[in-house]
Amino acid sequence: MNDKELVAHYAVGLVAEGMVVGLGTGSTANCFIMELGMRSREKGLRVTIVASSEVSKHFAQQQGLVVVEFDQVSQLDLYVDGADEVSPDSTLLKGQGADLVREKLLATASKEFIVLADASKLVDRIGQRFAIPIEVMPFAWQLLKNQLEAIGGHGELRQNPAKNGFALSSHGSLIADVSFDSSIPAKALNDSLNSISGIVEHGIFNDLATTVLIANQGQMEVRKISRAFNAVK
Ligand code: A5P
Repeated sequence: MNDKELVAHYAVGLVAEGMVVGLGTGSTANCFIMELGMRSREKGLRVTIVASSEVSKHFAQQQGLVVVEFDQVSQLDLYVDGADEVSPDSTLLKGQGADLVREKLLATASKEFIVLADASKLVDRIGQRFAIPIEVMPFAWQLLKNQLEAIGGHGELRQNPAKNGFALSSHGSLIADVSFDSSIPAKALNDSLNSISGIVEHGIFNDLATTVLIANQGQMEVRKISRAFNAVK
């Protein structure tokens, strides 16, 4: 069992009969989806599942899991997803996979947000390894670029894989990868980005994780975090 499988296995152990579970997106989330599918098939575990992306939805269906539509759930018990960076206060950077809107919606609407990571994701500060992914309304990019530069941001629109155009999120937004001055605390940057109109969503997940599972060469650390807010009662 590799580190991604180790944290996924532990997370599946947190899933109880009848729960509403949100599936994240990415290779670590896929380990969770595979393990959840196995447990569902072998132990008859029945849960309601919603996915943060079409990719995860189809992968879950391939594992024999029944996925309900996004608008059929009003709250979740668990949301399980990976991250690109995890800071010492468990703020996350996400968004290399460009499904930020649904990921953050599910993370915010869930009683528990379980983050699956390996030691390679640990950073001293958010933005240390990756620029901040920012989903923007396509028509707004030139105006937004100016506003982002005014708060110390520098970046460009993400290219598509073929490098012959711009990447589009699953909602038709453009995605900019923007680097900021390292002196800006993640919480302050999070609040600034939340206040700029035209930004659809960004990759800083501040004060959302409730448990972070960090595997490192077969050993696992469990970080429990109390969120300042409680999404659902
Ligand atoms: C999806 O948009 C991303 O936030 C992923 O959750 C993140 O990139 C981690 O992906 P891996 O689990 O593949 O490292």
